[in-house]
Amino acid sequence: MAIIDIKNLKKHFGDTKAVDGVDLSIEEGNIFGLVGPDGAGKTTTIRMLASIMDPTSGEAWVDGKHIVKDAEKIKENIGYMSQKFGLYGDLTVLENIEFYADIYGVLHEEKRKKIHKLLTFSQLIKFKDRQADALSGGMKQKLGLACALIHTPKILFLDEPTNGVDPVSRRDFWRILYELHREGTTIFLSTAYMDEAERCGQVAFFYKGKVMLSGTPQEVKKHLGGTILEVHCEAPRKALLMLREKLGQDCVKLFGNRIHIYIYTEDKRFSLEQVTDLIKQSNLGKYEVRETEPTLEDVFMSLMREKEAEDADVRY
Ligand SMILES: Nc1ncnc2c1ncn2[C@@H]1O[C@H](COP(=O)(O)OP(=O)(O)OP(=O)(O)O)[C@@H](O)[C@H]1O
Ligand SMILES: [Mg+2]
Repeated sequence: MAIIDIKNLKKHFGDTKAVDGVDLSIEEGNIFGLVGPDGAGKTTTIRMLASIMDPTSGEAWVDGKHIVKDAEKIKENIGYMSQKFGLYGDLTVLENIEFYADIYGVLHEEKRKKIHKLLTFSQLIKFKDRQADALSGGMKQKLGLACALIHTPKILFLDEPTNGVDPVSRRDFWRILYELHREGTTIFLSTAYMDEAERCGQVAFFYKGKVMLSGTPQEVKKHLGGTILEVHCEAPRKALLMLREKLGQDCVKLFGNRIHIYIYTEDKRFSLEQVTDLIKQSNLGKYEVRETEPTLEDVFMSLMREKEAEDADVRY
């Protein structure tokens, strides 16, 4: 049974349709990723699910509780780490977490045990007497997470929890999320990072207040018709310019040192052999061209392109 059930949820601010008719169903114990660019409506969606903000219309249930009618019960039973989580900079790590324990009525022996567990779990125990302001970005996020977990919530909402955090700390943060997942916690997070989306059990691509596509990462990847060619070569930037000139701007993208070329099912303009010939003729040093599985980023970019083309059709 779905632990989070969302039906045609909308939030409009004047003319801005921040959330514009979202339907989603999330199974208990899942790690769900709401994936989208700045301004897509991720925070607004999470705030409605955490019963902090009322919807304009539509409904949602979180663990069987209605987000408007049972708002107080939801607030008591979920963990929520907002995009700008409220840590007290002049309080120490321990004082911050004690503060949240008091708010949630976690007291006495239970409080002591839970704080010890969370600080150990998040590897913050060594820093328990350090002021929150003096922590690194990654450590601050881990402390925010520890505070959001103080009352052992069954469902955890995390709004871009690793935004701006370095890759090593992000991996560390995910190790904690997996541990929570193993313990059965349902995790609903938002992210703009595609590598994080790959780690989720279910994702929804979110754009301009609407879900463009959702499912497991594997299901979502099947959406992309056609194939992708991946090019590795010694001069990737030169190869990129050459390929864009010959094949078109839109279908050639650079990912680090790899080039991805999108070949849509109906598009017979170029094949693996033709692309290989183009690179060979350009004398760009050693190269390799092969077919590859699409990444979530490929799917997202392709969806955004479709959507932007549709919007342009509407405008003109
Ligand atoms: N309180 C508000 N009043 C008016 N407009 C708002 C309000 N909150 C959000 N918006 C607008 O709604 C849209 C969605 O905002 P939201 O913060 O939900 O996006 P987001 O996906 O969380 O973006 P980001 O990645 O930047 O955090 C934006 O256009 C934003 O300007
Ligand atoms: Mg946001």
